[in-house]
Amino acid sequence: MKDIKSDFGFSTRAIHHGYDPLENGGALIAPIYLTTTFAFPTAEYGASCFAGEESGHFYTRISNPTLALLESRMASLENGEAAVAFSSGMGAIAATFWTLLRPGDEIIVNRTLYGCTFALLHHGIGEFGVEVKHVDMSDLAELEAAISPATRMIYFESPANPSMQLMDINAVASIAHDHDDLLVVIDNTYCTPYLQRPLEMGADIVVHSATKYLSGHGDITAGIVVASQALADRIRLQGRKDLTGAVLSPQDANLLMRGLKTLALRMDRHCSNALAIAQYLERHPAVESVTYPGLPSFAQYTLASRQMKQSGGMIAFELKGGLETGRHFMNALQLFSRAVSLGSAESLAQHPASMTHSTYTREERARHGISEGLVRLSIGLEDIDDLLADITQALKTCI
Ligand SMILES: Cc1ncc(COP(=O)(O)O)c(C=O)c1O
Repeated sequence: MKDIKSDFGFSTRAIHHGYDPLENGGALIAPIYLTTTFAFPTAEYGASCFAGEESGHFYTRISNPTLALLESRMASLENGEAAVAFSSGMGAIAATFWTLLRPGDEIIVNRTLYGCTFALLHHGIGEFGVEVKHVDMSDLAELEAAISPATRMIYFESPANPSMQLMDINAVASIAHDHDDLLVVIDNTYCTPYLQRPLEMGADIVVHSATKYLSGHGDITAGIVVASQALADRIRLQGRKDLTGAVLSPQDANLLMRGLKTLALRMDRHCSNALAIAQYLERHPAVESVTYPGLPSFAQYTLASRQMKQSGGMIAFELKGGLETGRHFMNALQLFSRAVSLGSAESLAQHPASMTHSTYTREERARHGISEGLVRLSIGLEDIDDLLADITQALKTCI
């Protein structure tokens, strides 16, 4: 494979890392290895693959050259040693939890999490003997007090979905690493490694829903784990191979690598569009509050400026009149689509309490910082004037 030096810039690595056309018949784009299984030259060779003595590919749920290229690119972009690709973000998160947690262990998680991660914890591993403790992880004293000898993992999103609350990754990692056998795992879906690289700040494992910005076009579901070689090997050989089977298809790995090539360009545009919309919303008389890390009014603005390269493409906001007005606003949108998910070229609006976070009961949402009236926007790549015009006409109907 072409030796693409790790000191090349982010986009150069996103486009070239790990692939040399001249070693592949001149094909500029890496071929897709659409195969489930790989023929062994001898029975003995096959046996040594299964014994872990040979490193060749032998079954795609374990490894495949197309997945291997994607995984090495993602490891390079997150500045980690190794990566494992999954068929969804939930596959990546579930494989990480099932591999690294055992009955009697404790996991400390932030109080606000993506709805299906919350469900996996409370209706999945929590029912198999793992103790799930929620804390407000932006309060470092609260985090420190919650750690016990049984704590094996600290898990959070930053920014959290949908509240946008940030965690100080450096500070959380340094508290965790004062304890033995305590792993820090962060869901970096909202930022991508272009805006934030948690492994450089002390985290042990990064997980992604690559369904979102990484692939970027709303046409695949995919997940990624990036970690040390030793942890990635365990997550591959237990979490992906045996415990979830959630392997990414080589076709979708190819689409994901296509998306990665434009990640930096797209993120710049998502961020500049989102900042302009957040500023506009904040000035609008129909709006009660806007939560966006790029606004000086954001409660953790200093942390956001230090930890994130730019402020991202996601906005949480509330209208005066709460839930009812929020629904009215969403129904009046014409260019934005009313849809869940995020990170695609198309701008999307959704209502977490009745959609992505309906896995929480109403009481749980109240306890976990998810307000009933909150509207979440995923700002796409359209022309900013058209997006602002759509929001303006929809807000006019709310006054
Ligand atoms: C922050 C976050 N993590 C994980 C997931 C799950 O990813 P997937 O839908 O690819 O399984 C999502 C999905 O919306 C998400 O927003």
